[in-house]
Amino acid sequence: MEHRTNTTGECAAVIGLQWGDEGKGKLVDLLAPDYAAVVRYNGGANAGHSVVVGGERYALHLVPSGILYPDKLAVIGNGVVVDPEVLLRELDGLAQRGVDVSGLVLSDRAHVVMPYHKAEDELRERVLSSAQYATKEQTTGRSIGTTKRGIGPCYADKAQRATAIRAGDLLRPEVLRRKVELACAIKNAMLRGLAADDEAPEFKPAELIAWASGLGKRLERNIKDTTYLLHDLRSQGKRVLFEGANAAMLDVDHGTYPYVTSSSCTAGGIPAGTGVPGSEISSVLGVVKAYSTRVGNGPLVTELFDETGNRIRERGREFGTTTGRPRRVGWLDLVAVKYSAMLSGASGLAVTLLDVLAGLPTLRVCTEYRVGGRTTDRFLPDGDLLEGAEPVYTDVAGFEEDIGGVRSRRDLPPAAKVYLDLIERMVGVRVAMVGVGPERSQTIRG
Ligand code: GDP
Ligand code: IMO
Ligand code: MG
Repeated sequence: MEHRTNTTGECAAVIGLQWGDEGKGKLVDLLAPDYAAVVRYNGGANAGHSVVVGGERYALHLVPSGILYPDKLAVIGNGVVVDPEVLLRELDGLAQRGVDVSGLVLSDRAHVVMPYHKAEDELRERVLSSAQYATKEQTTGRSIGTTKRGIGPCYADKAQRATAIRAGDLLRPEVLRRKVELACAIKNAMLRGLAADDEAPEFKPAELIAWASGLGKRLERNIKDTTYLLHDLRSQGKRVLFEGANAAMLDVDHGTYPYVTSSSCTAGGIPAGTGVPGSEISSVLGVVKAYSTRVGNGPLVTELFDETGNRIRERGREFGTTTGRPRRVGWLDLVAVKYSAMLSGASGLAVTLLDVLAGLPTLRVCTEYRVGGRTTDRFLPDGDLLEGAEPVYTDVAGFEEDIGGVRSRRDLPPAAKVYLDLIERMVGVRVAMVGVGPERSQTIRG
């Protein structure tokens, strides 16, 4: 019997440790030169990863953030849910800007977000946000505040199985026809129920089949078995970088459930979402924004509703890359960050957007929660329980200086160093990188 020899070269991962938008895209783009492939393993077009190079801004939703390097593979793994129309639009947009997109590979087992998934997402949110489900605390009802990209319904169909469509099915007309006919029968009835008195969209199998197979043809040369592709790269000693989408606090198991997304966003999602075992991943960079932001509903213990919050939102340009929604803003929550660093086994932290905090006289960091008259430094991974938590803060002095041009930790203002030291001490993981601006070059390494 032939045994696999030990592979050489490390695999690494970049994972968001908060509620998303920590600056993962920028870091993946920065690290990509050291790897042969950049691999997305979870989420879908709910993600919005920005990369800024030489003043040019790229907003990536499904395409991995290694795409700007022509010699890299950009792999969309089986754990991702893919809207083929969004993917092709994104690829066309990149190609028009002169980016070589020939390295894009899509797993034949990635699930396809169909138009009825987006309709269901929209209608479910509408029902949940109706006054009927409002409470004193949450007058907007119980909606999740999704991106309406069809993510939840698509992952639900993946778990339901029979009506789910995978990228490989787009290339098999008989399988596609059978699945779409079955799906339309079930979905149209469900959507009529959800729409109540309003007009429900009616999906016609023939139209959807034509739509899906047309997009499938355009993606045919990209659709592959990415599990073997990645293992073959590993056998050749090539290094692979995994790009987390969304973030630990939005993880379907470990986040602020039910105010989460529908996939496994921690490093734990990598084996299931790519077929590469966790034992191959030797370094995990946990990305931590220097303060907290959250888009959509659900608890944010350190949320700011005052001028300081507005100031951070404006300075940090905290408006969604995917939906344009203003992001909710709060002080850094280290109870949450310590928990998510633990979940992903973070071996280093990247503290991003530190420059945004310049000019604030005092910086507050949440180091404990007060819940039911007691304090705890343990996170509460339950959206409803967490609603009752209050932050306990440690205050440190702020810094005045613009740090956008600083390239070494040594050269940071003393108060900024104290802030980073505090993060390191509380989380128990070293700060390996610091973001001081959106540009690829505005990063302190080492
Ligand atoms: P991602 O989803 O984690 O990739 O993050 P997003 O791209 O959605 O949001 C991060 C935003 O902050 C983007 O507009 C980035 O260009 C920007 N950004 C990333 N790192 C830094 C930084 O260190 N400083 C500043 N000022 N902006 C940054
Ligand atoms: P990146 O990769 C910020 C949030 C949505 C909503 C919840 C569920 O750019 O960091 P969904 O559409 O996934 O069903 O929405 O999750 N959300 C994100 N928030 N950044 C993201 O991705 C997000 N992906 C999902 O706002 O609250
Ligand atoms: Mg984002």
